[in-house]
Amino acid sequence: MDPRSRSFNPYTPDAGVRPPALVGRDRELEHLQSIITQLQAGGTERHLLITGLRGVGKTVMLNEFENACAEAGWPAESKEVARESAVAVLIGRSASRALRQLSVRAKVGDRLRRAMQILTSFEVTLPGGIGFKLGVDALPGHADSGDLADDLRDVLISVGEAAAEAGVGFAIVLDEMHNLGAADYEALIMALHRAKQKALPVAFVAAGLPLIPALTGEAKTYAERMFLRARLGALPVEAARSALADPARGQGVIWNEDALEIAVAYTEGYPYFLQEVGRWAWRERDGIHITRAAVDSAIPLAEAELDESFFEVRLGRLNQSERAYVHAMAALGDGPVSTAEIARSLGRKPEAVTKVRESLIQEAIVFAPGRGELEFTVPHCARFVRRRY
Ligand SMILES: Nc1ncnc2c1ncn2[C@@H]1O[C@H](COP(=O)(O)OP(=O)(O)OP(=O)(O)O)[C@@H](O)[C@H]1O
Ligand SMILES: [Mg+2]
Repeated sequence: MDPRSRSFNPYTPDAGVRPPALVGRDRELEHLQSIITQLQAGGTERHLLITGLRGVGKTVMLNEFENACAEAGWPAESKEVARESAVAVLIGRSASRALRQLSVRAKVGDRLRRAMQILTSFEVTLPGGIGFKLGVDALPGHADSGDLADDLRDVLISVGEAAAEAGVGFAIVLDEMHNLGAADYEALIMALHRAKQKALPVAFVAAGLPLIPALTGEAKTYAERMFLRARLGALPVEAARSALADPARGQGVIWNEDALEIAVAYTEGYPYFLQEVGRWAWRERDGIHITRAAVDSAIPLAEAELDESFFEVRLGRLNQSERAYVHAMAALGDGPVSTAEIARSLGRKPEAVTKVRESLIQEAIVFAPGRGELEFTVPHCARFVRRRY
């Protein structure tokens, strides 16, 4: 039988969608599992902060963690941080959802009731209109001081105690973490640090672009000790080959050696690009073989798709001066480029283009990997700008 008649295209060029072969992330996956098993057994484990460029698989990792939490019976729901998000609201909502889930499972114990009361007190510190409707009275003097770090600590501790009472843990999962303001981030770190001293099963896993705010003072030293930082990047060659070959093999379709080589070279191992090229190569395949010719025709099709769905959606909104800045930057090469050089090639003084640079950072189009340097948050972006504009 022609395998085509009962096969499906296995590749997943889609934000946050679990790839058919989740490869090259064993270390991070092990750590995520360890967070659950350690805390569940009364031990400790470091929180995880995942960073990486667009499309490397950060959201996929958070989803894996959420699933592992669900399997362990832990309430956990990933929240996406927006630029206008307040950490108090994000944590308040995670906490209230967790308490509701705990309350339908177990009979409402003392700790759970207390946590609900504390969260109800916390409401007075939130912008108007945000209420958790937990149906209990507030517990004045808890989580209502107006000092964000202290109040968050009270919430984390009380929810952690309620979870422990039910024999599980509580996980906070935040995506697009770079959108969190510096003051909110710092308060969250302080609160996590204080909650940690109580040895409660409270886990924190977050992901974002590598432009997460720099911390100072105490918060900085706590964060260094409390977090494992995982920088996700392109997949190493062997993993990239598996990401393409394994899903096809599962359906009796074989990637020829030279085809794999070209596809991996074109994508440079970036997960999103691997999925997009895989998807088009699958369509172009010859019977049960993905040949070099198939990949040769797939690459321009994949590239056109990436231009529309991956690059243009991010860069299409730029205004004229931002666009000029991005062009100058792209013309200087692929890696990090010097901001002084960008200004020079625009024929401007560096101070004269500070504002446009800042707005591009705000919009998360670029980030500063080092002092006086800028890099695109989207892999292959310089190349895209050069070919498109
Ligand atoms: N380890 C992996 N192996 C192969 N493909 C992967 C891997 N991780 C993620 N992918 C694929 O890469 C794509 C991007 O994944 P995801 O949306 O998680 O990236 P991201 O880092 O969250 O991107 P963004 O910063 O744009 O939110 C998806 O199509 C996913 O299926
Ligand atoms: Mg994501």
